[in-house]
Amino acid sequence: MTRFVYATATTLDGFLADPDNSLDWLFAVEGGEESMSELETFVQGVSVLVMGSTTYEWILDHEKLLDHPEKWDQFYPGKKTYVFSSRDLPVIPGADISILRGPVADHLQAVVEAAAGKDVWLMGGGDLAGQFDDAGALDELMLSVAAVTLGAGAPLLPRRMESDRLRLVEVGRTGQFVSLRYQVRR
Ligand SMILES: NC(=O)c1ccc[n+]([C@@H]2O[C@H](COP(=O)([O-])OP(=O)(O)OC[C@H]3O[C@@H](n4cnc5c(N)ncnc54)[C@H](OP(=O)(O)O)[C@@H]3O)[C@@H](O)[C@H]2O)c1
Repeated sequence: MTRFVYATATTLDGFLADPDNSLDWLFAVEGGEESMSELETFVQGVSVLVMGSTTYEWILDHEKLLDHPEKWDQFYPGKKTYVFSSRDLPVIPGADISILRGPVADHLQAVVEAAAGKDVWLMGGGDLAGQFDDAGALDELMLSVAAVTLGAGAPLLPRRMESDRLRLVEVGRTGQFVSLRYQVRR
């Protein structure tokens, strides 16, 4: 059965990016590369990627994907990708990317069908992961917590989710990162 997994790196104080949408602070943390290789194992088991437009535009810009579209398939081979945006964003040539807009609930059936029984990776941002939870489609949090605080930025999960809905199922350490997995009760 398809599960919706929100997997991301975060600061200790619960931010995904700084107020300028920079991740430079993340790349400076010891153990980042090993932490990324753990993520690669997870990515192999998912068939669908979901992200918001800020995250998509960051990837486009950071990897210069419109100039080097072949890199997308190296990162995410064969993955169906949905980007939520109210705008007509550029799509990477050759990549299987669809732009969605409006309530998550309106698109859930299509996303589940595209996943074909494998997991969906909710890449972020935090509010979009929250919108999936609002629609009853969030099953796991897979967090890589970096030894950094930022004080402000893009929030990890701007929702109230009390402990009766969260079950800590795994804890690990890689360099200056703590990895945490929580099952989320729908
Ligand atoms: N630390 C990490 O590992 C990690 C992981 C993921 C992301 N990030 C970073 O964290 C930041 C997240 O940015 P963010 O908080 O702005 O979140 P985001 O989800 O990437 O983008 C939010 C935008 O997506 C669009 N959107 C969201 N829901 C929508 C809906 N239902 N219908 C239509 N459009 C919708 C809206 O923009 P428009 O309608 O204007 O397009 C909204 O402003 C980025 O800088 C990203 O690079 C870091």
